[in-house]
Amino acid sequence: MIPGMGAVATTLIAGVEAVRRGFAKPIGSMSQMGTIRLGKRTDDNTPLIKDWAPIADLNDIVFTGWDIFGGNLYDAAKTAGVLDRDQLESMRPFLESIEPMPAVFDQRWVKRLSPKTQKVGKNKCDLANQIRNDIAEFKSKTDRQVMIWCGSTEIYIEPKPVHMTLEAFEKGLVDNDEDIAPSMLYAWACLKEGIPFANGAPNLTVDIPALQELSKKMNAPICGKDFKTGQTFIKTVLAPAFKTRQLGVAGWYSTNILGNRDGEVLDDPDNFKTKEVSKLGVLEHIFQPEKNPDLYGDIFHKVRINYYPPRGDNKEGWDNIDIFGWLGYPMQIKVDFLCRDSILAAPLALDLCLFMDLAARTPALRGLGIQEWLSFYFKDPDTAPGVYPEHDLFIQSMKLKNTLRHIMGEDLITHLGLEYYGD
Ligand SMILES: NC(=O)c1ccc[n+]([C@@H]2O[C@H](COP(=O)([O-])OP(=O)(O)OC[C@H]3O[C@@H](n4cnc5c(N)ncnc54)[C@H](O)[C@@H]3O)[C@@H](O)[C@H]2O)c1
Repeated sequence: MIPGMGAVATTLIAGVEAVRRGFAKPIGSMSQMGTIRLGKRTDDNTPLIKDWAPIADLNDIVFTGWDIFGGNLYDAAKTAGVLDRDQLESMRPFLESIEPMPAVFDQRWVKRLSPKTQKVGKNKCDLANQIRNDIAEFKSKTDRQVMIWCGSTEIYIEPKPVHMTLEAFEKGLVDNDEDIAPSMLYAWACLKEGIPFANGAPNLTVDIPALQELSKKMNAPICGKDFKTGQTFIKTVLAPAFKTRQLGVAGWYSTNILGNRDGEVLDDPDNFKTKEVSKLGVLEHIFQPEKNPDLYGDIFHKVRINYYPPRGDNKEGWDNIDIFGWLGYPMQIKVDFLCRDSILAAPLALDLCLFMDLAARTPALRGLGIQEWLSFYFKDPDTAPGVYPEHDLFIQSMKLKNTLRHIMGEDLITHLGLEYYGD
């Protein structure tokens, strides 16, 4: 169930259908293409994750969702302009068969979009209950459900008193509290139905005590926010490399041009702020400047996103990194990533749905609420209060695979490796 059926959602759905029909491979998806080592390196036991872990089969997935544009997913995918026309044409009847339900929307939260269709209700409680009704209807036709927010980035807000307890939040729904965002209404409805919720955007959404409380109460897993796709993906590969070699960083300037609807929404300063906070956090946690002041104490970190329509979904992200080495001698690294935003995001959305569904079926995980093992997918992973997030992509990947081993009752892999050298 996908609130927000734009570029990422249509690329995910058309992509899953293309894979099901044998037109293409699910490249970029750990759940579909990834392998996992079991036992010792000498055991030669490395199955595909999808053949070993009890994750749902792609053939069993059914999609639904909400948007403000009306029409069907063929039209939405054409507007998004990510996939080739020929490829879309070959799946046209399938895509035309999915029509987003009218969304809960409020322009205060996404200023650059004007809805063609949206739900109306007497207050936020009424609107959230309309979403619950949609969910209940979908539940009656399916065995298990997962919700993933692929909607636009909402404006930046800090947690307020209404977000602090479930009781205050539910009162706020009835009182139409202005600090309850549309994404929170979907999340509340979803968790209330005991369904896992993942967030592909950087909105606050479930990162508030009220919804974390509801997640635990309903055994409905939640995880981090904002897909880690382009520049931040590369950043969380390079930064740990500098850190592990004890190379200093004086500055990291990141800028992007993109021309899709996401770029248009982020062109508004309040919406950009939400993205900026999510993107800026990673270096702070990886470099730990307070523990490594000589190397990272004076780092200047800047992130810009510029809306540039000619590029559409094909984002270009530049990074200029000023590093320094032995005796403080400066060096530079330039990265120019000509990426495709939704092509990178779609496999992450797929994996999240499959792994969140697995978490919901795993007694040892579902009661935890936050699924930190899925940090791998996020710019801004969720963690228990007082625990700093791991942003290093390879720590995240190890954590994900060890959690899968744990779920399946396999030995964890620590990379100690002494067993190979005994008698
Ligand atoms: N593509 C990436 O690489 C990437 C990476 C990280 C995060 N994201 C985030 O994922 C989200 C989706 O990106 P996209 O490129 O698909 O954007 P998009 O603009 O193509 O799609 C977003 C859709 O959400 C809809 N929407 C907005 N508010 C809604 C609401 N309240 N209810 C239902 N629908 C609503 C819009 O109408 C639009 O169709 C964005 O927030 C983006 O920042 C994308």
